[in-house]
Amino acid sequence: MNAAIRGVGKTAIVEYGMEVLGFNAGYSGLINSDYIELKEAQLSGILTLGGTILGTSREKPFKIVAEDGSDNHKPEKIIETYKNLNLDCVVCIGGNGTMKTAHLLSQEGLNIIGIPKTIDNDVWGTDVTFGFDSAVQIATEAIDRLHSTANSHQRVMIIEIMGHTAGWLALYSGLAGGGDIILLPEIPYNIRSVCRNIEKRYEEKKPYSIVVVAEGIEHPKYQSAANYMANTIEAMTGIETRETVLGYVQRGGSPSPMDRILATRYGAFATQCIAEGCFGTMVAIRKNELTTVPLEEVGGKLRLVEPDLGLIQKARKMGVSFGDD
Ligand code: F6P
Repeated sequence: MNAAIRGVGKTAIVEYGMEVLGFNAGYSGLINSDYIELKEAQLSGILTLGGTILGTSREKPFKIVAEDGSDNHKPEKIIETYKNLNLDCVVCIGGNGTMKTAHLLSQEGLNIIGIPKTIDNDVWGTDVTFGFDSAVQIATEAIDRLHSTANSHQRVMIIEIMGHTAGWLALYSGLAGGGDIILLPEIPYNIRSVCRNIEKRYEEKKPYSIVVVAEGIEHPKYQSAANYMANTIEAMTGIETRETVLGYVQRGGSPSPMDRILATRYGAFATQCIAEGCFGTMVAIRKNELTTVPLEEVGGKLRLVEPDLGLIQKARKMGVSFGDD
């Protein structure tokens, strides 16, 4: 996120001589008019830092009914901030929720440009979001490290990767880490098929397996998807099974070089879009070319893994199971 803030800000200041404000904690900062002025000094030295110097929140201003039942007037407050500060454009950086709000704000008449950021890689309209590459790297390294225990102790190792609705992260890290079974929210699995695959490997003198599960796969009420898998596989196969839930580790730390470049490209391009007055859009990458997509096309949609994706077909032919065979 910092690389994108820097990309927007430095291009705005250095190339276009614009003034830049940074709102603290996402949409909360716009609601409460809580901001700082971003000069070159604030934008220096942040490229390599994970997270965001501005902080973030899960604020959804258009959820208009507050907990006590009263209208919270948050969209009106945002419009007030926009007008009081004489803003020319708000750049909204985030995933699907952020883009949905960005679209609604643009419908209210504000000049908005979205930049797609999420480790889930599931924003509609673009081929890739930043955050994804860094998270794939961390998750892959975690899977790599599980092979030692799997092989030495001859166990089934379950690892749960983030992704409630979209399985991109589990798919990519699962394939890169040599997972034997990969379970995604988009591909309904059969627990008997999962166990059969593990037993088959056992019979083939491979008495260890790595099972990569996305956190969002359907499962009966257990602590987590990994916990359900570990308990059920051990009970059904009799093979010792252990679980790991990677959690927030996969969402933090210094971003990968590819993510820094991607966020910089997106940020600089977003500022170019401001200068050209190309509002109500999200910057996107298609076939490695920067482009824009109307926010109305993006809001409320998800880019999910298609079960017949070429990569999945190839993996199946190499013996990877997706729990449905
Ligand atoms: O949307 C990105 C994401 O990282 C999901 O993969 C994950 O399930 C979720 O955020 C966790 O959200 P929170 O930070 O609100 O717990």
